[in-house]
Amino acid sequence: MKRKVQVGIIGTGPAGLLLAHLLKRAGIEALVLESRSREQIESTIRAGVLEQWTVDLLISLGLGERLKREAHFHDGITLRFGRGSHHLDFPELTGGKRVTVYAQHEVIKDLVAALPADMIQFGVKNVSLHGLDTDHPTIRTAEDEIDCDFIAGCDGFHGPSRQAIPANALKTYETVYPFGWLGILAEAPPSHHELIYARHERGFALLSTRSPEVQRLYIQCDPADDLANWSDDRIWNELHQRLETDEDWSLTEGPIFQKNIVAMRSFVCETMRWGRLFLAGDAAHIVPPTGAKGLNLAAADVVVLARALTRFYADGKEDLLDTYAATCLERIWRGERFSWYMTTLLHRNDAEEDFVRRIHMADLDYVVSSHAAQQALAENYVGLPMAF
Ligand code: FAD
Ligand code: DHB
Repeated sequence: MKRKVQVGIIGTGPAGLLLAHLLKRAGIEALVLESRSREQIESTIRAGVLEQWTVDLLISLGLGERLKREAHFHDGITLRFGRGSHHLDFPELTGGKRVTVYAQHEVIKDLVAALPADMIQFGVKNVSLHGLDTDHPTIRTAEDEIDCDFIAGCDGFHGPSRQAIPANALKTYETVYPFGWLGILAEAPPSHHELIYARHERGFALLSTRSPEVQRLYIQCDPADDLANWSDDRIWNELHQRLETDEDWSLTEGPIFQKNIVAMRSFVCETMRWGRLFLAGDAAHIVPPTGAKGLNLAAADVVVLARALTRFYADGKEDLLDTYAATCLERIWRGERFSWYMTTLLHRNDAEEDFVRRIHMADLDYVVSSHAAQQALAENYVGLPMAF
């Protein structure tokens, strides 16, 4: 079937769905195409931390009701190393900003539920992009041919959008880390009232939360490791060791009902625009999860894109479309820097010399003893200023 839409969006991750909402609010017609089913996208376990402005954006779009009721709002994070804990007081350090923990798939559920059903097509197969260097790019699927004014490639790192850009036009930067995260969900009451980021001789560990009954935890592991090697006993044993402290604190255990391993990379595709194709979110950039930035960077991209498209449809001006990549990349590189910093600061990397390891320890000592250093970490963690 042949169809026509102003903006064709590929992917129902945070980038694609938020863009659909922003365009709908601006009166621009959009259609979102997703290869997976609604059940799949609503149950994929990923991010947890939202920047303050992302929360404010969701609320301003009328999408924050459940978030306000069910999210966890923390007054900072704890850094743990050398058997000691150090609380960073974010409201004091940032002029009132806090940490919001609300699972990505809950954001996805809220975004999907609030879009008209005819704006999303799930289970779409064989998506391909054509005519990107013309005024009428087309998305072909197994069943449809959709003529668009613009295509937004919001299809994540492995999607077809970035691959539709000629290889010789792509300008990319990448570094791959020699470790990954084993993430678990456990039916256990909270062990602590905020997130604990731990650096330990045995490797990094992170304690996060999902609800009063469910805790989210991560352990640094080999990215090629097999989940079969990680029995529940081994996971708890590692977590106890890596989160050890001389304080009166203990980790609460409970049945583990979900496990996965993710590899870690930093990646930036600076070619975020190719003709009438605009890349947003993980399609254009990846950060290691230690800084909790990925979802938030995806949201920032589509705010910039929606503003540019709104201007184009309101008065025919292409200036904001022309500056889209440059505008986004400023924030993206800052997010890349912070995510790389938090990752190298907190993980054990056997490829590093002992000297570098001691530098990381000195850095941690500096952070917890300097108000200025804490402020720098906190302002990045809660999110750099973003107008929307
Ligand atoms: P995605 O969420 O990847 O969405 C892309 C969509 O496109 C998918 O639904 C996919 O099915 C669809 N798609 C792909 N190919 C096709 C195709 N051929 N046709 C149609 N559709 C297609 N970020 C944070 O901000 N805070 C955190 O605390 C955080 N923690 C994380 C923890 C972990 C363990 C991981 C793995 C990630 C974490 N992130 C975090 C990163 C965050 O999850 C991603 O950055 C975010 O999902 C990016 O959103 P997106 O919309 O760009 O892409
Ligand atoms: C979570 C994920 C992160 O990447 C992070 O830095 C903090 C928390 C989480 O899933 O809760």
